[in-house]
Amino acid sequence: MPTSAIVLCAGSGTRMKSKKPKVVHEILGVPLMKWAIRAAEDAGADPIVTVVGHKSDEVVPLATGTAVVEQAERLGTAHAVLCAREALVEVGGSVFVTYGDCPLIEGATLRALSLLREDTDAAAAVLTMEMEDPFGYGRIVRDSAGDVLRIVEQKDATEQETEIKECNSGIYCFDGAVLFEVLEEIGNDNAAGEYYLTDAVEILRGRGERVVAMVAPDAAECMGVNSRKQLADASRVLQQRINRKHMDAGVSMTDPSLVWIGPDVRIGQDTEILPMTMLMGATSIGEDCLIGPNTRLTDTHVGNNCTIDETVAIESTIDDGATSGPRAYLRPGAHLMEGAKAGTHVEIKKSTVGPNSKVPHLSYIGDTTIGSGVNIGAGSITCNYDGAKKHPTTIEDNVFVGSDTMMVAPVAIGEGAVVGAGSVITKDVPAGSLAVARARERILEDWAVKHRKA
Ligand code: UD1
Ligand code: CA
Repeated sequence: MPTSAIVLCAGSGTRMKSKKPKVVHEILGVPLMKWAIRAAEDAGADPIVTVVGHKSDEVVPLATGTAVVEQAERLGTAHAVLCAREALVEVGGSVFVTYGDCPLIEGATLRALSLLREDTDAAAAVLTMEMEDPFGYGRIVRDSAGDVLRIVEQKDATEQETEIKECNSGIYCFDGAVLFEVLEEIGNDNAAGEYYLTDAVEILRGRGERVVAMVAPDAAECMGVNSRKQLADASRVLQQRINRKHMDAGVSMTDPSLVWIGPDVRIGQDTEILPMTMLMGATSIGEDCLIGPNTRLTDTHVGNNCTIDETVAIESTIDDGATSGPRAYLRPGAHLMEGAKAGTHVEIKKSTVGPNSKVPHLSYIGDTTIGSGVNIGAGSITCNYDGAKKHPTTIEDNVFVGSDTMMVAPVAIGEGAVVGAGSVITKDVPAGSLAVARARERILEDWAVKHRKA
């Protein structure tokens, strides 16, 4: 059956006390609304329509892969869904409605909801949750057969109805063929003066349609994020869910509560993740690696058998058997080839360190190509920036660069050359030669002894 989804993202989220719209706040590097969109994708929905409104200029760029419609005024959830109509060319089949501030919903749960609707020939299936404290939520009023008669909002509920513990999650699966017809019948004659989507239930029942409910397997899945506290709570749930998946697949974590992994990260078998490690974006890690502690990798690719200790790496590539840190900073375009090393207090940007080459201590390497078997002495730096432009440095295979060398780019050091410690290299160094570029040492005998006497 064709399946589409509408994700409501028009609200402001005043309780976040934020300058940004609520749905752009992130969990594990992914905006709230993206989590909701992913769940709809996982459930097979296509197209997905995102309804935006409050500060839409900040929300629209995050709605990639979806059709975007604008709800100019927030007149209620029914009005928001109606705004999506124009974008749903195919209105038949199942239509999910979810919220951009409900990041914990899973695709499998949405699929189960649509299967229930189809199996029961219902016009709508509502995802519900049993709440200890249901205050604030719409309550589910069921008939004697267990079908849903109506949903009553907190503000409009009788005292008896407020006793109901089964609540509306706000997540639904509708029969697209009837959804938009009934939306037009919904009025705003209620305590909030809003067009309530929940009123669709009573209208459907009045037409003789069935409305069924499915209690969520885990109420936490329906949790909405309205405050910073709830943002942190939802982060913890997703952190645990993701870490559990990696551990089940053969990844070790000393303390999973101190490891944060984004939803798209891949990690190979027998890799161990040490505490205070964040793996974000499209990062991938091979097998048998030791990652952390105190490490943040973003959009970085790590091969097999790597040791990455106290490292920040962004858009970098680390090949098999390479090592990094402690205290290394690999910036975009850094590439450590097989067996290479970026050691302590080393920063590498837009540079390749060839196979088995080492940059062990206190270096900045930028816009540089280093061949294989090179050793860069402690404190050596490529001076790639002249204040206006960036220039390249080339260091060929088996070069030995002595400690505290400044390589003023553009400059090239030929294969097998040796550079004396403390040199400032401004001219190309031919292959196989020795370059020394520093003041000669002078010795003034007895100078210090005489000085001390004076
Ligand atoms: C809604 C449900 C309630 C349910 C609760 C679950 C209705 C009338 N009530 O109540 O039964 O228990 O969710 O969290 O639907 N939105 C728009 N445009 C609008 C109005 C809302 O995009 O015009 C979006 C909001 O950004 C939010 C979501 O829809 O993400 C829910 O709206 P909100 O006003 O918070 O509804 P609740 O009062 O929480
Ligand atoms: Ca809400």
